[in-house]
Amino acid sequence: MDMTNNQRFVFSVLLICFSLKWDVSGGVDSISVNQPLSGDQTIVSAGGFFELGFFKPGNSSNYYLGMWYKKVSEQTVVWVANRDKPISDRFSSLLRFSYGNLVLYDESQIPTWSTNLNTTNISSSIEAVLLDEGNLVLRDLSNDFLWQSFDNPTHAWLPGMKIGFNKRTKEKKRLTSWKNIEDPAPGLFSLELDPDGTDQYVMVWNESEIFWHSGIWSGKMYSSVPEMAYFINNDMYNASFISNENEQSFIYFVKDPNFISRFILDASGQVRQMYWLENTSKSWFQIWSTPRQPCEIYAYCGAFGSCSEQTQSFCGCVPGFKPNSEHNWNLLHDHSGGCVRETQLQCENNSLANGESDRFLANHDITLPEHPQSVAVRNITGCKTICLNDCSCTAYAYEDSACSIWNWNLMNLQQLAKVNLIAEGGDILSLLDKRLESNADVEEISRMLKVACWCIQDDENHRPSMAQVVQMLEGIVDVTQPPVPRCALFQNLAPQISVASCNFATT
Ligand SMILES: *[C@@H]1O[C@H](CO)[C@@H](O)[C@H](O)[C@H]1NC(C)=O
Ligand SMILES: *[C@@H]1O[C@H](CO)[C@@H](O)[C@H](O)[C@H]1NC(C)=O
Ligand SMILES: *[C@@H]1O[C@H](CO)[C@@H](O)[C@H](O)[C@H]1NC(C)=O
Ligand SMILES: *[C@@H]1O[C@H](CO)[C@@H](O)[C@H](O)[C@H]1NC(C)=O
Ligand SMILES: *[C@@H]1O[C@H](CO)[C@@H](O)[C@H](O)[C@H]1NC(C)=O
Ligand SMILES: *[C@@H]1O[C@H](CO)[C@@H](O)[C@H](O)[C@H]1NC(C)=O
Ligand SMILES: *[C@@H]1O[C@H](CO)[C@@H](O)[C@H](O)[C@H]1NC(C)=O
Ligand SMILES: *[C@@H]1O[C@H](CO)[C@@H](O)[C@H](O)[C@H]1NC(C)=O
Repeated sequence: MDMTNNQRFVFSVLLICFSLKWDVSGGVDSISVNQPLSGDQTIVSAGGFFELGFFKPGNSSNYYLGMWYKKVSEQTVVWVANRDKPISDRFSSLLRFSYGNLVLYDESQIPTWSTNLNTTNISSSIEAVLLDEGNLVLRDLSNDFLWQSFDNPTHAWLPGMKIGFNKRTKEKKRLTSWKNIEDPAPGLFSLELDPDGTDQYVMVWNESEIFWHSGIWSGKMYSSVPEMAYFINNDMYNASFISNENEQSFIYFVKDPNFISRFILDASGQVRQMYWLENTSKSWFQIWSTPRQPCEIYAYCGAFGSCSEQTQSFCGCVPGFKPNSEHNWNLLHDHSGGCVRETQLQCENNSLANGESDRFLANHDITLPEHPQSVAVRNITGCKTICLNDCSCTAYAYEDSACSIWNWNLMNLQQLAKVNLIAEGGDILSLLDKRLESNADVEEISRMLKVACWCIQDDENHRPSMAQVVQMLEGIVDVTQPPVPRCALFQNLAPQISVASCNFATT
């Protein structure tokens, strides 16, 4: 299962092809006070590793100032200056020095991006140099770095770059995802040092929900990223965690400068490490990624979207809802906009009232969203009534005499695999939709559920390969009784959840 998911993800990463014609102006690696940059001009680091100039992501009509690998034939951007302020005409835009800062002026000569230094001390010898590490630095005659792009990371963690926390300035350096493959504006996901002060790294959704922990650093790997040990043991990388009175950060280096590898937080919320196969396929090869399953990414399918490892696209909308943007959802694989109601709720628009009132649709195989509000009522009718009488209430669940309601957007819904009872040898049919009861092939269903159960084993080593899964599903290989996976979790999540919706099929 892992394999297909990864391939699909690699594919979406490969879609990040940037159309750009460049025109190297004689191997210049710097921008000086008298030499600004515009149009198709670029600067290239001294050893020819990185290039900086204007680029256009995918089919977007916007241009950005960015940095990419000079030696990689597939345009692969690692840093973007004007992330959320694109320019439309790169020929009338200008990157130049202004009062000691490097400033990007758009086609209307309005500053859209700047190095933002406090410039009390303007030196005319100041210059911006692109270094072979992929670091754009501002320096003057003193050779000190007054500013560096390594201190202002975007979505890529390059070798030699520190991500962490500066204890003196209280600044945190973190990676933030792109919004989608055509928009480098800061997206919803970030990778940063644990805000609780531990030495772990965490992945965060919308600066609020932590959905992944790296585990502790052993000196060779983070406990949730055992793959790292392989590369460090094989002397391809060295890495260290730095913790002193100034900072708490992690840094790594690649031993062979010709080995082009990149560590990115991609727009979908997955971290991946990839390396460039120059001598064979001339493409990026993924070494590892995390979280391994898309549905482990918080709110992967956005508001009112439900994530399922069992479907090709992973994301669907709950019944009665449709993707907020079909273009983003289908073409850009950007699900962050989530789903919206196909039909307005009656309580939102009184003029719709023609004897109809809002009703609930029960969803049995979906996890309950986080952050419920508990309401003290005696029975399910009371729970339902509370929700129905409040137009901001979108769902309720009643279980063990406890009523929970949710207001506004429902986030991070997961379509459940119907596996919890099978692993305990329980009754299969009781889990199925009533319509299937009469003609379901119990043997086949049991097989499917057991395979599903194998595929969600907590221990990676227990999960079968895709080829094994196919053989199991086709009945070529016998499926043994799987160990109980996160079933304790599933049982808590099993009660029915109801989503307020008009116009649902009344079967
Ligand atoms: C970009 O444009 C090409 C050509 O018009 C089209 O085939 C492709 O699907 C587009 N890609 C996206 C992501 O919209
Ligand atoms: C810039 O200087 C001003 C005034 O001296 C000060 O208030 C501000 O904090 C400084 N900003 C930075 C980023 O150092
Ligand atoms: C101004 O720059 C000079 C040389 O770069 C440096 O020695 C001096 O400390 C700077 N002064 C201030 C106030 O930053
Ligand atoms: C992210 O958080 C902000 C501030 O809390 C909120 O306004 C915004 O709606 C959130 N984004 C999404 C997609 O939920
Ligand atoms: C890792 O390698 C870099 C450059 O190759 C070197 O400067 C650094 O000291 C090394 N760090 C460790 C912890 O070995
Ligand atoms: C690619 O081939 C060249 C020339 O044969 C060799 O020097 C280089 O090490 C190879 N690169 C990798 C990453 O294998
Ligand atoms: C209420 O519904 C009517 C008819 O569908 C529509 O024209 C109107 O814009 C809606 N009002 C609001 C506030 O959404
Ligand atoms: C549910 O509880 C309410 C009081 O909270 C009571 O009036 C009502 O009769 C109860 N309904 C049922 C079906 O038990």
